[in-house]
Amino acid sequence: MEIEPLKQAALAELTGAADLAALEQAKGTWLGPHGKFTALMKQLGGLPKEERPAAGKQINLAKIELETALSARRGELELKAALPKERTDFTLPGRRRTLGQLHPLTQVTEDIVRSFRKLGFAVADGPEIEDEYHCFDALNTPADHPARDAQDTFYLSAEETALLRTHTSSVQIRVMEKQRPPVRIIVPGRVYRRDNPDATHNPTFHQIEGLYVDRGVTVGDLKGTVEFVFKQLLGEETKIRFRPHYFSYTEPSFEIDFSSALTRKMGKEWLEIAGCGMVHPLVFEKVGYDPEIWTGWAFGFGIERIAMIRYNINDIRLFYENDVRFLRQF
Ligand code: DAH
Repeated sequence: MEIEPLKQAALAELTGAADLAALEQAKGTWLGPHGKFTALMKQLGGLPKEERPAAGKQINLAKIELETALSARRGELELKAALPKERTDFTLPGRRRTLGQLHPLTQVTEDIVRSFRKLGFAVADGPEIEDEYHCFDALNTPADHPARDAQDTFYLSAEETALLRTHTSSVQIRVMEKQRPPVRIIVPGRVYRRDNPDATHNPTFHQIEGLYVDRGVTVGDLKGTVEFVFKQLLGEETKIRFRPHYFSYTEPSFEIDFSSALTRKMGKEWLEIAGCGMVHPLVFEKVGYDPEIWTGWAFGFGIERIAMIRYNINDIRLFYENDVRFLRQF
């Protein structure tokens, strides 16, 4: 039996295999079920009895040697296949993926929404392109009211009935038209005014409206709710106060001031933050709610104003410039 020359030929082919496919091929040729080396085993039976043990041992040793060579070459080739084709400098610094973050106005809005959700309020939505009826008439704001002046409002057509909503209060009407009481909603959204941009004004800004309608709702409910939300938003030591005011869709109406470390830092004890009041009976009549049965409160405030106070921002226009050097800070 020619074991040694066969083994040498097999070793040469296994260790010389150029890639994994060639190696598998060589494995089949020599060590597979029909391989040339396997055939030697089968010839053992044909040898004289006294020669068989020595030959068997030699074949086994050779086979172990071939299998060792096979797995060594496989290791080498697998490593080679896993390595990059191009030269790579592994000492280069890694590529960082920069994480984005929410816009400060979105953060403030989400915080406010989260507080109201705890009280069972749902988020409602309405169109930014409104009609005069929902923006003004249904809110008991008559045709000769200065808020409806073309100086104050963006009208979209010559007939002057389609306009960009000047406040989120229009959504009060839209929701009440569709839904029977009780109502418990908040409405974050974009609003429009014909203002020239300056440090505290922008023709586009954001408000949050709140509306609560049920039996026996009082100013106490309104004040308690506003106090809870502002404490959550601006800190436990925040105080609020109501000042009498006028809005045509609420009676009585109030302006809400708040006081906290933030206002004192701005050199003021109290800062005006929102408008609110008890929903006017005429508004209920417009949407078909019986004012003898239903009572409610509403409020509205500007999100930018709260964000400016909270983060100590002195120019409203910074919110809209999309300058990452500004946005990255929140
Ligand atoms: N719509 C008012 C504004 O834009 C804010 C407001 C005041 C909303 C009183 C209300 C309210 O719901 O009851 O200035």
